[in-house]
Amino acid sequence: MSHHSRFSPRSLLFGGDYSPEQWPESVWREDVALMREAGVNIVTLGVFSWGLLEVDDDRWDWDWFDRIIDLLSNEGISIDLATPTASPPIWLHREHPEILPVDRRGIRYHQGGRLQWCPSHPVWQRYARRIAERLGERYGAHPSVTMWHVSNELGGGNRRCYCAASTSAFRVWLENRYEHIDAVNSAWGTAFWGHRYRRFDDVTAPLDSESAQNPSLLLDFDRFSSDALLGQFRLERDALRDAGVTTPITTNLMVSPSGSVADYASWIDDLDVVAIDHYTIAEDPRRERELAFVASRTRGLDPSRPWLVMEHSTSAVNWQRRNAPKSPGEMIRNSLQHIAHGSDGALFFQWRASASGAEQFHSAMVPHAGSDSRQWREVVELGRRLAQLDELTGSLGERSEVAILVDDVSLWAWHAGQKPLHDHPIHEDARQWFDVLSARGFGPDVVPPTSDLTGRSLIVVPSLYLVTDATVAAIEAVVRSGSTVVIGPLSGIVDADSRIRVGGYPGAFRDMLGVVGEELVPLLDGEQLLLSSGAQMADISARLRTTAADVVEVHRGGDLDGLPAITRRAVGAGAAWHISGLVGAGFDDLVDRITGDAGLVRRLPSSDDIEAVRRVSADGSWLFLINHGTTDAVVPADGTDLISGESADGRFALPAGDVAVIRERVEKRATRPV
Ligand code: GLA
Repeated sequence: MSHHSRFSPRSLLFGGDYSPEQWPESVWREDVALMREAGVNIVTLGVFSWGLLEVDDDRWDWDWFDRIIDLLSNEGISIDLATPTASPPIWLHREHPEILPVDRRGIRYHQGGRLQWCPSHPVWQRYARRIAERLGERYGAHPSVTMWHVSNELGGGNRRCYCAASTSAFRVWLENRYEHIDAVNSAWGTAFWGHRYRRFDDVTAPLDSESAQNPSLLLDFDRFSSDALLGQFRLERDALRDAGVTTPITTNLMVSPSGSVADYASWIDDLDVVAIDHYTIAEDPRRERELAFVASRTRGLDPSRPWLVMEHSTSAVNWQRRNAPKSPGEMIRNSLQHIAHGSDGALFFQWRASASGAEQFHSAMVPHAGSDSRQWREVVELGRRLAQLDELTGSLGERSEVAILVDDVSLWAWHAGQKPLHDHPIHEDARQWFDVLSARGFGPDVVPPTSDLTGRSLIVVPSLYLVTDATVAAIEAVVRSGSTVVIGPLSGIVDADSRIRVGGYPGAFRDMLGVVGEELVPLLDGEQLLLSSGAQMADISARLRTTAADVVEVHRGGDLDGLPAITRRAVGAGAAWHISGLVGAGFDDLVDRITGDAGLVRRLPSSDDIEAVRRVSADGSWLFLINHGTTDAVVPADGTDLISGESADGRFALPAGDVAVIRERVEKRATRPV
């Protein structure tokens, strides 16, 4: 992996997106005073400032930007400088409406909004490169500009563009991937409906039709669209480097449990630090678990480096149905959750709540009410706590012996075209495993299928619909050498081209599992299948027969009465489990049986309400304890809490809603597997 520049802050980063252009300069002075009060050490500047920097085509107004950069710099606040390409100026759309993206109906979007551009359009690319270059030339050597932030949430408004420029770029992409059009015909199975292509020029972006589309075409278009967005990142990064920038360059990813807009696993080598934005959903009563899943997944993208939560919210989020504030203490818990899972800081959208514009009801570090507010006091308290944690900067999340495989491309494949059940959120299977394994103290890692599986005692493959041959081989190899694997329902159904692996489901794993699935059996609304243990399945099961596996549980009643539902097969020195459907009631017991079979030993003092996560480095280890519940708890721990200064001698009292970060006793750490 080649990184131009290492991201290694001296202390945890604390700050947020800062939009001084929305305020008179008298407010800027109050801003920096408040930043110092809270211990803010970095702000992201310029994300949406293009139209105020390049006020007309190649006419520049740098004065105000110079002034705010000087002001921040004089106060010792670092700058994460953004290229402002997420929001092109109005004049650019007036001059070049052809850069606006086109939707799947072939309709061009209009000026305004943001991310209103096609990454494949040469005119867009010319303007984007120029603004990045100008910024790099002007501020690249500025000592306070310590990192760069390319654009903002690439794909969050222009995930797929169907314009003529995109179609041309898609053809080139296909030619690079397949070389010959016959290879496309074969990969996409175009004999179906006789949709055979004569040459690459016959292919278009998958514009809408009333009838269903070819799922393999849709999947390749998603892959192309992800690569086009990565191309945008590279174009801007290269412009910055060409202009002399030597500090770390990144962009803020949107890692989503239900499938991200891009295949981030393939972006990682290009990023000097993996940075994400994350927003909890107020209506989700266990939203802290979703946060933990995303944080673990982010860490799993590259476990060898700390990452960074570039944006999260202090409180209410305007784009949600009910724009509810976070509960007192929740922001602090959320920030420390991210840090527990390996973020080297906690940054927010945004510094000061906007008075105008599309996001005027979004929370911020400084709320509309100003600094005499609960929100501000909590921000100051968070800054105080982060300052006590500086020693763990640069440490990494502890590697787990449990891996859950999650893949954006597989999620896209599931969502592309018609499937056995359309309303089933396939990604929730991974979430369910993560929640239970976390509460049991196994601290699972959520990783892409391409990650290194060696040394994992348990590998969970939950509803991983698409798997490549390489993944299948890697899983089989670790199982033979002693790991336990669980293949969930709907896993291994299609190959990399989204072609069914025929001969019985789950085709990719059939031989390893010693089962043949003859039919997928989606259930109707409210229908439940009973298993011999009393557990229940909903949504889907399968008609299975065993060829070499032992039957662990069978269905009771209904069309599948007596047929296998859960199987296990000894494979080499390991074991391969299969679950034919989605287990509801009884799931926790099943997890206990499988983790017992895998010989897992609890590593962390977690429970339903206590999230325990460890960071490790050559200098020590830190145990984060986060009490998400409403009752005080006593948790096993040994060391000193960096936040309260209290020592933990085998037990630590953790009040409801509170967080502790225990620097663990060295002699304990030495005996613990890292
Ligand atoms: C995203 C964007 C920000 C802001 C927030 C609001 O993360 O990057 O600019 O719009 O959402 O939640």
